[in-house]
Amino acid sequence: MTQNLKDLSILLVISGGIAAYKSLELIRLLKKDGAKVRCILTEGGSHFVTPLSVSALCEEPVYTDLWSLKDETEMGHIRLSREADLIVVAPASANIIAQMAHGLAQDLASTMLLAANKPILIAPAMNHAMWVNDATCTNVNSLKNRGIKFAGPEEGDMACGEHGPGRMSEPGTIFDRIKGLLDEGMTGDSPHPLITSSPHLKSLRALVTSGPTYESLDPVRFIGNRSSGKQGHAIAQALADFGADVTLVSGPTALPDPFGVRTIRVETAQEMLAACEAALPCDIAVCAAAVSDWRASAPAEQKIKKDAEGTIPQLSLKENPDILYILSHHAQRPALVAGFAAETQGVLEHAKGKLARKGCDWILANQVGGDDKKVFGEDENHVYFISAKTTDDWGAMSKSAVGERLTQAIADYFKAIKGQMNDAAE
Ligand code: C5P
Repeated sequence: MTQNLKDLSILLVISGGIAAYKSLELIRLLKKDGAKVRCILTEGGSHFVTPLSVSALCEEPVYTDLWSLKDETEMGHIRLSREADLIVVAPASANIIAQMAHGLAQDLASTMLLAANKPILIAPAMNHAMWVNDATCTNVNSLKNRGIKFAGPEEGDMACGEHGPGRMSEPGTIFDRIKGLLDEGMTGDSPHPLITSSPHLKSLRALVTSGPTYESLDPVRFIGNRSSGKQGHAIAQALADFGADVTLVSGPTALPDPFGVRTIRVETAQEMLAACEAALPCDIAVCAAAVSDWRASAPAEQKIKKDAEGTIPQLSLKENPDILYILSHHAQRPALVAGFAAETQGVLEHAKGKLARKGCDWILANQVGGDDKKVFGEDENHVYFISAKTTDDWGAMSKSAVGERLTQAIADYFKAIKGQMNDAAE
């Protein structure tokens, strides 16, 4: 992420939710990077943060009332959006998402959003049951289909004491997402880099694998691993946000299906391979699944029972298909194939070896194990990006940010190919 936000005008809508306090930090990060920030505080939002705190941080008046004679004559809800380069709604409550999805104009924020002609990024924040409610899912899908960008939400502990997806992304993650959008849509010669909401991977087909595989030993037991699927799902989401047509083939996970992504749930490596091959041809394959290397040679049809002598059963295993290898050598090989390498030691050497052995184009390597390098189930990842030409340390970032950075790299890759094809044609 190269651009700073100097001279970028951001209109931030703070709607009602406990996460509103995080928006104060977001304003601080944006201002520190040079952005001009104006705020609309909804009535709900003003129960969580005060207009005074918001205005002190923005160094601007705060807009709260559609019917304010003063605000409407001096600024007006139409001008608020016209003078912004980007509109950010954080936190975006289930209510404001529903208002946006249905085109309601009931207060200053929803009226401005309906009248907006600028890209919109929203950071949802709500109770997990509200987030997975069919009504919200339909609303979110409809906004995504209209090109509205999303940051989060994340899974985690909620203010109400429950746990699940719906937590607003951290201010730093939303800030990174804004910078990612800026890089994505920057117009080269414009003094004010304008963000466009036009998807950059439109017409490209992507296949992503995610999660673990479970290999049956008998009807109740299996060989599995600790993969949560968070990284693979985040990649599928980021690719879809960029406009790609995404098929996600996922092993068993507790995660909800990403929005706007064709998700195929499988259990075993063999099923995963079959689903991947059925998704071909495609342009991009990202293998983020932690596929079990082995499966039982002959899974028992009935539950294996302990016998009176305490005989320990001997497991006989056979090798599973290597999906990344097979896709890399496939007659319908995608133009770009990327894999992951989780290692407990010698991360870079092993990853470079894997790049050659698997025949893929990129490897994203990370260290697993150790107190600060758990990776499995975590929201953060520290990734090294390895291609035949480069080794790039991406540093520690959220799994969503890794998804976005990888998606950006994929967009750059296809842009370069298109450039070469145009040059050759001239
Ligand atoms: O060989 P290893 O499991 O370390 O390689 C990791 C990479 O290979 C990951 O991208 C993983 O998704 C992929 N892989 C695969 N099928 C396997 C084993 C690994 O696609 N059977």
